[in-house]
Amino acid sequence: MALVIAIDGPAAAGKGTLARKLAAHYGLPHLDTGLTYRATAKALLDAGKPLDDEAIAAEMAGAIDLGGLDRAVLSAHEIGEAASKVAAMPRVRVALVAAQRRFAETDRGAVLDGRDIGTVVCPDATVKLYVTADAELRARRRYDEIVGGGGVADFAEIFEDVKRRDARDMGRKDSPLRPADDAHLLDTSKMGIEAAFQAARAIIDGQLDRN
Ligand code: DC
Repeated sequence: MALVIAIDGPAAAGKGTLARKLAAHYGLPHLDTGLTYRATAKALLDAGKPLDDEAIAAEMAGAIDLGGLDRAVLSAHEIGEAASKVAAMPRVRVALVAAQRRFAETDRGAVLDGRDIGTVVCPDATVKLYVTADAELRARRRYDEIVGGGGVADFAEIFEDVKRRDARDMGRKDSPLRPADDAHLLDTSKMGIEAAFQAARAIIDGQLDRN
């Protein structure tokens, strides 16, 4: 049976790192679905198109190649901001969700992380995790990441940004960020990545034993 692991949660909660570790552990392909929204936003910015034209955005979304998503290029702050705007457009979501479902439908299974994997993209996933952490702590982690990498950052600005992004992701009409009813909650506020990985493994292995 295919093992589909759905991971959702707010920005900077540690989902990406956790998803990559779980994919390596269970030998599954991994898709960071946030990159598909980011790639759509970047395509619009590169083409000089407005960010509020849903028809053009949906067309760009339909042309995204899941094999060509470059995390380093797509992680830029302004692309994240633009992505959260295009992610609120229903027609963009229809196009990207279709591509994400195709990715998940392999014989072995897959790990997908995002905001609506357990609720919309893969409602029948084998295991659903909702990874969260205190907003100030998530901002602190992002700040440390930037400064640790030699960059310059303003903590207050990042904290505001995290709160604004949460409000936009949770408050939108189409597929708002929320835990699926059958999701396992994983609060990583007081956990390092290794502890979060072990906790997730215990949940997944427990689920596999029951199946
Ligand atoms: O996780 P991220 O920062 O790369 O996501 C970029 C934006 O895309 C963010 O505002 C949330 C949105 N997103 C979404 O709406 N649904 C997903 N499955 C993944 C991301």
